[in-house]
Amino acid sequence: MIDRREFIQTVGSAALLTAVPVTAQANGRKALPRRNIPNSDETLAVVGLGNAKVFYDGDMVTSRELIRVFLEHGGSYVDTGWGARDTVGRIMRENNAHDQLFLGTYVEGEDLPSMRAEIGRLLDVQGGDSLDLVQVMAVEDFDRRRDQFAALKEEGLTRFVGVARYNKEFYPPMMKLMGDGALDFIQINYSIMEPEAAAEILPLAQETNTAVIINRPFINGEYFGLVRGQDLPEWAAEFDCDSWAQFSLKYILAHPTVNCVLTETSNPDHAIDNLGAGYGRLPDDDHRKRMETVIRALMQ
Ligand SMILES: NC(=O)c1ccc[n+]([C@@H]2O[C@H](COP(=O)([O-])OP(=O)(O)OC[C@H]3O[C@@H](n4cnc5c(N)ncnc54)[C@H](OP(=O)(O)O)[C@@H]3O)[C@@H](O)[C@H]2O)c1
Repeated sequence: MIDRREFIQTVGSAALLTAVPVTAQANGRKALPRRNIPNSDETLAVVGLGNAKVFYDGDMVTSRELIRVFLEHGGSYVDTGWGARDTVGRIMRENNAHDQLFLGTYVEGEDLPSMRAEIGRLLDVQGGDSLDLVQVMAVEDFDRRRDQFAALKEEGLTRFVGVARYNKEFYPPMMKLMGDGALDFIQINYSIMEPEAAAEILPLAQETNTAVIINRPFINGEYFGLVRGQDLPEWAAEFDCDSWAQFSLKYILAHPTVNCVLTETSNPDHAIDNLGAGYGRLPDDDHRKRMETVIRALMQ
């Protein structure tokens, strides 16, 4: 595993690497820590990329740079919503990066034939035989259509299925599906500012062997408004934390049930900062209590 000193050297030289093909870098020595996807022999790197604005705007230049930086540092999971699927899929195909990238793809078809057609079109764009993860936002809908999602897996059109939402109001129906064994993945919000998932749904994910992707680590940017102008506590160095972004991400990654935390950015420098959270030590229970005190004081 890459150590912290090596990561800092890598960041310092990142600007020199822009001409290197993605695949060459992805095969290099740098790798984020990875966590196992339950009930599989696959793993995901602990820091992922969200559904970035440059992806759904189709800004291919910045999108290619983001994915290049992400792969350079061993990232794997990219969350791809409707506008972003084709952009990221094209870059995946261009670089033959199917073994490096793991795409959480939102599929909107309302019945099995339309989902088959939609997935077929996506596979034409990105290449490969199967999607990694088909996810939907309509949690109640998933319950009614669970046979259709099971069929997609049986037909080899996707390896995993899941539901993705961003608010605690969705936890009860998600937990029902988890209890029934219908989901491989959940994607939920969790952070110091929105800690409610720790009470029930994360313990249930552990119990039911459900993979967990975390969204809203920065409350869609609100967190940076809170910490702007504040000094990072000196004791953050005890868990190798260099920035306020890493402060939030390391808090999230210290929860053992979390597979991967998504970070949305259109700025490659921010992506490098965020990827840095995966390296080095994580906060212990005492640190986490102190982190909660710091952020909650700012929230008042
Ligand atoms: N399925 C769902 O219902 C759902 C709902 C919400 C979110 N999500 C997923 O979760 C992802 C992340 O959640 P989110 O949308 O709430 O975004 P977020 O990651 O919590 O926050 C994104 C904001 O933080 C800024 N940022 C990121 N890294 C930074 C850094 N190192 N330093 C300073 N600013 C930084 C970004 O600005 P810059 O671009 O300038 O860096 C952007 O304004 C989404 O992209 C999406 O994939 C899914």
